[in-house]
Amino acid sequence: MKPAFYYSSGRLFCEEVDLPELAGNMPTPFYLYSFMELKKNCQEIVEAGKSFDYLPCYALKANYNPHLLRLIAGLGLGADVVSAGELYFALKAGFPPSKIVFAGVGKTAQEIQFAIETGIHSLNVESFEELKLTSKIAGQLQKKVDIAIRINPDIEAQTHDYISTGMHNTKFGVSADEALHMYQFALEDKHLEPRGVHVHIGSQIISSEPYLKTIDFLQAFIKKLKTLGVQLSFIDLGGGIGINYHDNLQDSDSNRTYIQSILPDYLNGFKGLGLKLVVELGRAVIGSAGILISNIIYRKQTPLKKFLIVDAAMNNLIRPSLYGAHHEIVPLQLNHGETETVDIVGPVCESGDFLAKEQVLQMTKSGDYLAILGTGAYGQALSSNYNLRPRIGEYLVDGQTVKTIFKEEKITNLWEHFKS
Ligand code: LLP
Repeated sequence: MKPAFYYSSGRLFCEEVDLPELAGNMPTPFYLYSFMELKKNCQEIVEAGKSFDYLPCYALKANYNPHLLRLIAGLGLGADVVSAGELYFALKAGFPPSKIVFAGVGKTAQEIQFAIETGIHSLNVESFEELKLTSKIAGQLQKKVDIAIRINPDIEAQTHDYISTGMHNTKFGVSADEALHMYQFALEDKHLEPRGVHVHIGSQIISSEPYLKTIDFLQAFIKKLKTLGVQLSFIDLGGGIGINYHDNLQDSDSNRTYIQSILPDYLNGFKGLGLKLVVELGRAVIGSAGILISNIIYRKQTPLKKFLIVDAAMNNLIRPSLYGAHHEIVPLQLNHGETETVDIVGPVCESGDFLAKEQVLQMTKSGDYLAILGTGAYGQALSSNYNLRPRIGEYLVDGQTVKTIFKEEKITNLWEHFKS
């Protein structure tokens, strides 16, 4: 099967859409998503757990565009939310409450109340104080609430420090010892139903190894919970499966994803326990389905470096600036000519505003278009109006059709926000 993004006669296509032609007819920069790629990712995730009692959830934080959410809900996934805003969007987009899990270190009383009133699958509690507040609010509402406690397993996720969450130096979850006290408290509480265990060790993980360690940790912990008398019905295994940020669509011959190479190994670690397995995947769902298309405004040579100054910037895609993350950047039209080494930077007034450094790219000229790949997750979701740059449009491709799913902001829209 043809991949979602591919070159044909030197022109980049998304499904049946010729991107140089599309880019020429739209204001740049913009995000573009492939429904085919999104569907493939969701299907692989669903498939990986088909022999289990299984609830694969989509972590809305990766990309909360409601048009994408509706498609993901339609493909059978539940939702992992971390705020009242995400819970609201998940419900509006059609995720059934019974398929929604709510994590987050700092849930407010209002957020806890909203979740309990909605009757979601479970609240993943991350501190003793939050547990007590949850009990109090459930009591006021005269409800019993299913909870999981997020354990911090102190496992290194082998990823960037900022997105590694399962070590004791991070703010996430509680230690196994603290968790045992919390389960004891919940067992004795009239309004709490301790039904689950939750872990999430980090993000952009591309090997099974940290997950295999998590299996050992959880197996041992579940035994302890049994001794305590906790009757578990599910384990929430978190998310974090990475994507291939080095596929440049030209010399990669493998379309295999980390979903297929990691997820079955992780799930199989819990075979035979009779527990529902929940996962919360963001990047693996939408990351590879999105690209950012940008136009070269200027070329510039300084005494030390050659720059391509493009119309997308760190306010549109912050991952390179924030994490030093690598994204492949490719031309919309290949010329098979000479290459050069360039820094690809945006117009924002920060030296840290770059999309790539020391990138080898074919010779380009101002006016040419580039695609920044693998930007479906944590792209538009982390965007801002820094330097008063309006947020950019988002489009969805399905076969030959291109649908606007976010209309780009206008400068006048930004001015309106400040009207009193
Ligand atoms: N569950 C929990 C509790 C999480 O904290 C996260 C992500 C996920 C699930 C989904 O992780 P994923 O499957 O997408 O890796 N902005 C960073 C990533 C931050 C991830 C935060 N938590 C980036 O651009 O790489």
